[in-house]
Amino acid sequence: MKKIVIVCSIIMVSAGFISCGDKREPGRAYMPDMYYSRAYETYGYNDVNGEYDNLKKRGITYTAIPVNGTMARGDVEPYPFPNSDTGYKQSASFTSPLDSVKLSASQMKEAERLFLVNCAICHGSKLDGNGPLWKGGDGPFPAAPRNLTDDYTKKLADGTIYHVIEYGKGLMGSYASQLRPEQRWWVIKYIRSKQGPATDSTQKTTTTKTDSTASAK
Ligand code: HEC
Repeated sequence: MKKIVIVCSIIMVSAGFISCGDKREPGRAYMPDMYYSRAYETYGYNDVNGEYDNLKKRGITYTAIPVNGTMARGDVEPYPFPNSDTGYKQSASFTSPLDSVKLSASQMKEAERLFLVNCAICHGSKLDGNGPLWKGGDGPFPAAPRNLTDDYTKKLADGTIYHVIEYGKGLMGSYASQLRPEQRWWVIKYIRSKQGPATDSTQKTTTTKTDSTASAK
């Protein structure tokens, strides 16, 4: 019994000594390799043989954004027009590389999935502009999403819908980071497949001035 008391008090006393160090010191690192990453800090200070070094100094600019004018292998052409009124107007001339391609049943299924994941929350799974966020005005979203099966949208050029996915419009945000370029065209194909022909036979156009609900963007 006595022994146990002695051992315990020795442990407590030494624990007391260890814990009363300089509070500003981080303490002893037992496995420094685990504490201090050897990974190269992209933007930070890297001590390479005692010299300040970073990627920028080496001419490497890494921001995870593709360099302007480049595209990923296997991807389709990036969108060339700016996020402006002019860009919106020019968008009609941007044609789909999938124009002459018919999506297979499984591709169409994927296109539907992409639509349901990204767009249906507002535009509705029936594309009628009445998704759960709007619910005929009772939902939390403050602006009515477009009914994607109305004549107005039927007459929007594919490129213009692409512009809207790329940059957003009015209160609709950009979906560029959620959908790769090719996936955007798939979603557009899906929308088209659900639309049917326009009831009046005017050409597809991007002039929307006659539409009173369109925002001024
Ligand atoms: C958060 C809600 C929301 C989501 C999600 C959303 N939209 Fe929209 N969308 C809107 C609203 C609101 C408008 C009306 C914008 C305006 O005209 O001011 C709109 C308008 C549009 C228009 C009409 C554009 C025009 O030129 O008038 C198209 C086409 C469209 N959306 C397609 C899509 C597609 C495709 C997706 C999925 C990738 C999508 N939207 C996701 C809210 C949304």
